[in-house]
Amino acid sequence: MGEAGEAPASSAISTMRRLFLLALSIISISVASFASGSKEEPFIGVSIFRSDDAFTEEERQWIEKESQGKIPVRVKAAENKQSLQNDHITEFIEAGADAIIVNPVDRTASGAIIEKCRQADVPLVFINREPLADDMALWDKVYYVGARAEAAGRFEARIFINYWFDHPEADRNGDGKLQFVIIKGEPGHQDTELRSEYLMRTLAEAGIVIDRLDEDTALWERGRAEDLMSAFLATHGDSIEAVFANNDQMALGAIDALINAGYFEGGKYMPVIGCDAIPDGLEALQNGTLLGTVLNDAEGQGKAAYRIAYELACGRIPEEASIGYPLTDERYVWIPYTMMIQGNLI
Ligand code: BGC
Ligand code: CA
Repeated sequence: MGEAGEAPASSAISTMRRLFLLALSIISISVASFASGSKEEPFIGVSIFRSDDAFTEEERQWIEKESQGKIPVRVKAAENKQSLQNDHITEFIEAGADAIIVNPVDRTASGAIIEKCRQADVPLVFINREPLADDMALWDKVYYVGARAEAAGRFEARIFINYWFDHPEADRNGDGKLQFVIIKGEPGHQDTELRSEYLMRTLAEAGIVIDRLDEDTALWERGRAEDLMSAFLATHGDSIEAVFANNDQMALGAIDALINAGYFEGGKYMPVIGCDAIPDGLEALQNGTLLGTVLNDAEGQGKAAYRIAYELACGRIPEEASIGYPLTDERYVWIPYTMMIQGNLI
């Protein structure tokens, strides 16, 4: 019985074996086709520094809009963690990305991202947070799209200068000086440092004697700016004659605090100036709580970043003719700012 039973047993085993091998080859074929399928399907990876920043959110939308009908994008948000963003880059490379757009959490950490992409030969476009020049020099398939922060600072100042010279009562204590506060973005961000520096320089160049009562960061956030402005009011009271914020979100936070303190009614006014021209900022401009802002062109920046990434993904060198924006120093696109006051709303 043993021998007699062995033949069928071994033939059953070999049948099972054949089935097993067949199953294995089916699995490996499907794994292979999945792997090559994901490689063959082109995509552009996008990693933004966080998902709840109003201006960055606009940029993301424009990048996605621009990708319609072209190479699709896969977007990830790093929630302000550089380590998470570094993982995004690795994941994009492993998934076969044809190009990557990065809005870095920490612009001084861009060198490691560039190095990773250089080794994998995946071209890179930075947006809004400018890598240091030394890092940009690490590889030639690295581009930057942004706006000249100095110009935003100068526009913020110009809006105020016009107001100051038209409104002698703006010098509330009549001492011939401007007492003001600055609400700053993230320390180290080029838009924080340069917007603030050129704002003050331009005020001084126009002949305004400046007396900076206070300044601090609210990390680009509305809620933090409201708290900060409340603290400034508690310390300096009505001696503050103007509020400058590095972005609209923070200008709006300052306005929230000022409204709580009784401003913008009964003739009590405070000039507040922001930057970005986000929809909420434009609304505040229209209702008169925001004196002015500077259009930070999310549409232009988003479109330019995507078009550069697209050209690189197609193996071409981006040129003005193909991307629709001029390149400076071959690898930079600077999108201009526009001064916005009531009356010249877009
Ligand atoms: C914008 C800010 C934004 C920041 C993010 C700046 O250019 O003005 O509103 O929070 O970029 O990096
Ligand atoms: Ca004064």
